[in-house]
Amino acid sequence: MKNILVTGCAGFIGSNFVPYFLDNYPEYNIINLDLLTYAGDLENLRECEENPRYKFITGDICNRELVEFIFREYDISGVIHFAAESHVDNSIKNPGVFIETNVNGTFVLLDVAKEYWMYEPFSYKDRYKGARFHHISTDEVYGTLNETDLFTEETPYAPNSPYSASKASSDMIVRSYQETYGLNTVITNCSNNYGPKQHDEKLIPTIIRKALAGESIPIYGDGKNIRDWLYVLDHCKGIDLVYHTGKEGNVYNIGGRNERTNLEIVDAICTILDKKVPLSARYSQLDWESNKNINSYKDLITFVKDRAGHDRRYAIDATKLESELGWRADENFDSGIVKTIEWYLEKYQV
Ligand SMILES: NC(=O)c1ccc[n+]([C@@H]2O[C@H](COP(=O)([O-])OP(=O)(O)OC[C@H]3O[C@@H](n4cnc5c(N)ncnc54)[C@H](O)[C@@H]3O)[C@@H](O)[C@H]2O)c1
Repeated sequence: MKNILVTGCAGFIGSNFVPYFLDNYPEYNIINLDLLTYAGDLENLRECEENPRYKFITGDICNRELVEFIFREYDISGVIHFAAESHVDNSIKNPGVFIETNVNGTFVLLDVAKEYWMYEPFSYKDRYKGARFHHISTDEVYGTLNETDLFTEETPYAPNSPYSASKASSDMIVRSYQETYGLNTVITNCSNNYGPKQHDEKLIPTIIRKALAGESIPIYGDGKNIRDWLYVLDHCKGIDLVYHTGKEGNVYNIGGRNERTNLEIVDAICTILDKKVPLSARYSQLDWESNKNINSYKDLITFVKDRAGHDRRYAIDATKLESELGWRADENFDSGIVKTIEWYLEKYQV
């Protein structure tokens, strides 16, 4: 059996990754270290609680003593690092915690892994040969795009928010551990994810939640910012491929080739909700005597003041991952969004 430390798995992507990984790799034990910030919810991992190959530890990736203890106690031979502060809006209001967790926390994990796995630079202990550190990052490190270009692995970094700057910084520290110490690292930079278990604060859960509550659905600015949307399980499959077969020291972009403006997203969700749970059938549930003239969820869309420094467009060129490692997204936006909405309808019991 191999014991791997997977950080931040009470959050959105990690909690989709853990059950996927446990199902597909019976030879792994997973140790999940998560601080359970406001973004972490153990409910997301209830399905794994009884699994003897899964262990949850509450704690901070910045706590070096704790991370050292976990490496020793569980003889860790691989790391997949999801834990981060991840919401751009929060990084504008409170950037300090982003630097602490995303930069210093990543440094602690890297440094403990290096000390535990290696004798000296470029010399792994025999037992840990092949032990790998996989850093999960974002396409936001590349900044914003014009109307036609795509982010490749060679695109220069130009982060614009404290969130993306903290992720870019952590990517650079990972790179330095590869170059200076020969630590076996890979980095994946992924586009916007969507799917089950995402925190309420993010765009797609907010649209669904507000719509179902009959409240106004806030859309930043003119709604024309473009993101490249990837179904979360396709991201997990990409991470799995890169962790197991990616080339040491390489960066891989992961993206779904599903560019949508925020307006297209809200329009698609409202169209599906109008069919699945028509407003007209829900007036009494919403206590909506005065709003009976509203027949589509689209009527709830409200434009609000734009986010400061809001990047206009992100779009990923995933050719490297596709051609070198054979990755393909199984979902397109039209299929993935239906699955997502069905999950939230169940969550909100509508
Ligand atoms: N969500 C996306 O669309 C997206 C896209 C690309 C990359 N990413 C990256 O993927 C990773 C996971 O993103 P997510 O959307 O699941 O995030 P999330 O905010 O849903 O979850 C983050 C998790 O990390 C934990 N955490 C926060 N600070 C911690 C600390 N100091 N110590 C231990 N645990 C801590 C939280 O409790 C939470 O469970 C992040 O590194 C993020 O930058 C996310």
